[in-house]
Amino acid sequence: MIIQAKNKRQILLRKLGSADFEKLSDYLFKLSAETAKRFGPHGFDTNSIADIFRKPDNYMGFIALDTETAEIIAYSIVKQGFLEHDSSRLRSYGLTLDSKTDCTFAPSVADAWQSQGVGNGLFQFVLSNLHSVGIKRIILWGGVQSDNHKAVSFYRKNSFTTLGEFEYYGNNYDMILEII
Ligand SMILES: CC(C)(COP(=O)(O)OP(=O)(O)OC[C@H]1O[C@@H](n2cnc3c(N)ncnc32)[C@H](O)[C@@H]1OP(=O)(O)O)[C@@H](O)C(=O)NCCC(=O)NCCS
Repeated sequence: MIIQAKNKRQILLRKLGSADFEKLSDYLFKLSAETAKRFGPHGFDTNSIADIFRKPDNYMGFIALDTETAEIIAYSIVKQGFLEHDSSRLRSYGLTLDSKTDCTFAPSVADAWQSQGVGNGLFQFVLSNLHSVGIKRIILWGGVQSDNHKAVSFYRKNSFTTLGEFEYYGNNYDMILEII
């Protein structure tokens, strides 16, 4: 699927494939310290990426590419179900977790491309894919740091609601989106 970013560039949205792992590793290592501090669902090296996506039923990757340079400019990961180490906290809000219909989500956009509508565009693409595999609820991967105003605003704009707060290297929000 092609979308147009606010800077008028044409952006290709598609699922991540194994042929993209090296390019994805380059993308991740080029993230600024500020962005990498906010986004770290797995190691940035090619082996860590291959390890995660070895089980394609459990993890899905989605990428946005600048059609002019063929460079990856955004990446989101979705894990089916929930993170085991977040489960007791999530249950403490009264959630009944479901390993088939819940998923866990983490988005990232390259620094130079943030605030250009790419995060939103890729998220809409992720949503349409999740619908087709029976996912009904999206949970944030390890929550979101409450001082990450860009991301908190992004989630609110996309109708995520806040379940509660927790302390982990500062204050964080757990947020979810029901997608039925
Ligand atoms: C959070 C992130 C994924 C959003 O993607 P993006 O491409 O920058 O966002 P978009 O341009 O699509 O904008 C979507 C919404 O995000 C929010 N947003 C984007 N840029 C913003 C900014 N500079 N200030 C405040 N809010 C901002 C707005 O709510 C915006 O909606 P609007 O355009 O209707 O105002 C991206 O900025 C990012 O990768 N940040 C660093 C990594 C990160 O924090 N990941 C999330 C970890 S929990």
